Amino acid sequence: MCGIIGYIGNKKALPIILDGLRRMEYRGYDSAGIAVLERESVFSQKSVGQIGRLQEKLHDADTHGGTIGIGHTRWATHGGVTVENAHPHTDCTGAIWVVHNGIIENERELKDELQSLGHVFRSETDTETLPHLIEEMEKKYPEENLAGHVRRALLRIKGTYGIAVIHASHPDMLIAARNFSPLLLGIGTGEYFIASDASAILAYTDRVIYLDDGELAILTPNTREITNLQNVPSKKDTHTIEWSLEDAGKKEYPHFMLKEIFEEPAAIENSIRGRIIADTGQAKFGGLSEHGKVMQETKRILIVACGTAYFAGRVGEYLIEEYAGIPVEVDIASEFRYRKPVFRQGDVCLVISQSGETADTLAALREAKAKGIPVIGIVNVVGSTIARETDAGIYQHIGPEMGVASTKAFTSQVAILALLTVLLGRSREMSFDTGRRMLQEIEKIPEHMRHTLLQSTHIRHIAKKYQPYRNFLFLGRKYQMPVACEGALKLKEISYVHAEGYGAGELKHGSIAMIDKDFPSICIVLRDSMREKMISNIQEIKARNGPIIAIATEGDSEVASIADDVIFIPETLEALSPMISAVPLQLFAYHFGVLAGCDVDKPRNLAKSVTVE
Ligand code: M6R
Repeated sequence: MCGIIGYIGNKKALPIILDGLRRMEYRGYDSAGIAVLERESVFSQKSVGQIGRLQEKLHDADTHGGTIGIGHTRWATHGGVTVENAHPHTDCTGAIWVVHNGIIENERELKDELQSLGHVFRSETDTETLPHLIEEMEKKYPEENLAGHVRRALLRIKGTYGIAVIHASHPDMLIAARNFSPLLLGIGTGEYFIASDASAILAYTDRVIYLDDGELAILTPNTREITNLQNVPSKKDTHTIEWSLEDAGKKEYPHFMLKEIFEEPAAIENSIRGRIIADTGQAKFGGLSEHGKVMQETKRILIVACGTAYFAGRVGEYLIEEYAGIPVEVDIASEFRYRKPVFRQGDVCLVISQSGETADTLAALREAKAKGIPVIGIVNVVGSTIARETDAGIYQHIGPEMGVASTKAFTSQVAILALLTVLLGRSREMSFDTGRRMLQEIEKIPEHMRHTLLQSTHIRHIAKKYQPYRNFLFLGRKYQMPVACEGALKLKEISYVHAEGYGAGELKHGSIAMIDKDFPSICIVLRDSMREKMISNIQEIKARNGPIIAIATEGDSEVASIADDVIFIPETLEALSPMISAVPLQLFAYHFGVLAGCDVDKPRNLAKSVTVE
């Protein structure tokens, strides 16, 4: 949700801020705004819509020479999408300017208090309480400096925040603070950057410090001080960002989503590299270190995630239970957190998150840790909050995923879960032959994916044919059930048509009532243990005139003869096939969305990183 950026240094701040906002736009794109300090006054501009609209308003950006500034790209929580509600927000005097990512939960009570003291609010946002609170602290504690006033204001706040603050009377200072919303500090030469994520500042520096909850950074062009809210200094390590600016670009692709789908073979190679021990039919993960043993001895695994990562977790459930014999429960993080899960001795919690910043997953992680359960992570973004807070973790190593629709993250998460299954299975009943066979097949997945990607044009034709339809069912059984759900999620999130994913066995328990000639079903019917049952389900749909698009194993002419359209994929082990069958569904959603004229990289109402609950 929302992206914030701040700059203090020796260069013009505005172009740096606009560039950073453009790179972080995938975090939220309802509206955007900037504020730049210029000789003891502040220049601000805001716009609804994507950053391009703000840039149009700032065509004379070069005339603004200020070297300190802040910017924001918004995913609306409190208040509609209007210029008034766009950030930055200011106090009554127009001296204090704040950008904020998060939610101020006690906004109502603070606003009442501040209004009773004479403060005038101009927006419907929760954020606006902050500059007014800082202004109030300034009045009350004139002997303190800006950092003291911000600290005092933050101590009054309940909720989550990543903020950056500038003040017209402090033209040499930028303040940032974090609580539960991601924020990092970029270190340049004679300059500092503040950003919600590294992509915003990678063009200028790859050296960063990750702020932790309850920390505040006081920056001048040449100094930094990081403290907690009680003004106790924090000792921080500097990290180097692993990936390059080129990785975060679109290259020759029209959209990030397509680029990332085509990156899947390489992503799987990167996720499994160095993690296979062919001689012993074993898998290894350096990141698990001593927790590898905890994992191996676990009596139950609780997988917790959201969205696409949750569906990857569901594939993991089938894999681990079938091949390692360990009971697995998979939960949506927002439910896990609130439903009082019963923990047992020997439980391990496995959290899965591409961004490593998803608020619900993070909250679930903290809940499990608070109950004394070891927490292991499967995370892509290095240094993200979830990666740092888990006891041990496995990085995905797939480079940045910028498209809001998660694609390469899903198949990489499944690949890692398959390796984890081998690791767990081999320390239990799994034979050397089974372990070796699985590993050999995992190594072939990238090639199978490359082969599947060749069908992109064929899939585009099918997507074109089905453009008039507004409802789709996605059906699969066993390993393909979570893939069906993931396929439906992809289609609805980027093309806004109604799609539901189901275990095909559930069809007769209600949803078959919807089937008619205008309601197509996308059926994953592979040459595996579920093939005959799936064929029966397809016949049931056909008997009700429902059109069928089948994802079938290459050479399966029987399926081809009963389906209206078919997309063939190469054969692999049933347990590994989700990595292949997900690809045509991602491509179908992509082409469908593009043909429908949707902005597939920035679907409406969504943001890449869901950092609010
Ligand atoms: O970064 P995470 O993997 O924790 O994100 C979880 C979900 O928000 C994410 O997968 C979301 O469902 C995607 N938009 C799906 O494409």
